[in-house]
Amino acid sequence: MSVWNERMSHGLQTDGCQHNAISYLQFTSRFGLAKKVPVDGEISFKDLAATIGINTAAITSILRLGIAFRIFREPRPGFIAHSAASRQMVSDTRVSDWVAVTTEELWPATQKLTDALTTWPKAAEPNQTGFSLANKTDLPFHEVLVQNPERARRFGGAMSSFTTGEAYSLRHLTDGYCWSSFAPGTVVDLGGSHGDAAFALVRKYPGLQLLVQDLPGVISNSKTEEGLDVRFMAHDFFEEQPVKNADVYYFRWTLHNWPDVYCVKALRALIPALKKGARILIIDAVMPPPGALPNGLDRKLRAMDLTMLEVGNARERELEEWKALLIEADARFKFRDLHQPPGSALAIFEAIWDE
Ligand SMILES: C[S@@+](CC[C@H](N)C(=O)[O-])C[C@H]1O[C@@H](n2cnc3c(N)ncnc32)[C@H](O)[C@@H]1O
Repeated sequence: MSVWNERMSHGLQTDGCQHNAISYLQFTSRFGLAKKVPVDGEISFKDLAATIGINTAAITSILRLGIAFRIFREPRPGFIAHSAASRQMVSDTRVSDWVAVTTEELWPATQKLTDALTTWPKAAEPNQTGFSLANKTDLPFHEVLVQNPERARRFGGAMSSFTTGEAYSLRHLTDGYCWSSFAPGTVVDLGGSHGDAAFALVRKYPGLQLLVQDLPGVISNSKTEEGLDVRFMAHDFFEEQPVKNADVYYFRWTLHNWPDVYCVKALRALIPALKKGARILIIDAVMPPPGALPNGLDRKLRAMDLTMLEVGNARERELEEWKALLIEADARFKFRDLHQPPGSALAIFEAIWDE
């Protein structure tokens, strides 16, 4: 039992209540509690409970767990006020979007992982996952989201929230590759969501023209910025690429959502558009061998790997696995280099079209 106690208290069940902590965040997010607490004041548990129509004792138990995690405060018994963390859920919609996506999209998928593997042991198709069971759907993850504009919007917001941290900072993208050598030139961002990466690139390299492609429901939520050469286009990356002869085509944090055959399909869909020497970048994690990283980092990468399984029967890949996808897609894709910016969760896997 002592081994289990040690495991429980060091991560398997942080402080004995990881599942409760997620439940707490889900409740907070679904009922929009952060916006119901005055930004610079306080409200009683009783009044908050009345506002959302939930039993006061229940809401008190739930909120006090969050307060123990420093999300909200109890400045005097029975009253709730903002902490720095809860205030961010009001001031930065990307944070509240991230909480909503984690608790309403990912957590239900996690809970159904074992059921999904029991139902579909081959785990081969993106629509045979924990997410599929949780949503009672035959559609892949991203297609479900785009059918519901609010879910698509908040997923885009959650993606943006990652760029505020060091591991997914867009600085690694802008500084980690020789973009200036392609200016002036055209760069296509496939699955580029609301264009955060594209905007970062043109801000630093004004000679670049960026074209962001994503599914229609995502593109409809995207906004151009005056003075920045970023355009948006609805395009399914499994269909033939309509933008011909661009200098660079990149997939950032996108192919890890898809099983191998789908990645191969997306790469082949580029071929009719490619000129000799075009660069194809896959910007994604490159998994180290098991146990090679410090344990804390290893857990984060393995957790992201599992999330990909839960939502798409996909996975994070090792370098040789990325190379194998390229070869499978077409022998004229040649691996050129791997750029791993220090501190970045994502590497830049560079290939060149060599016809
Ligand atoms: C994990 S997000 C990454 C977003 C962005 N590239 C980033 O770095 O934050 C994956 C993106 O791929 C898009 N996507 C998924 N399937 C797609 C498809 N078939 N064609 C185009 N975009 C797709 C999703 O809508 C989503 O915006």
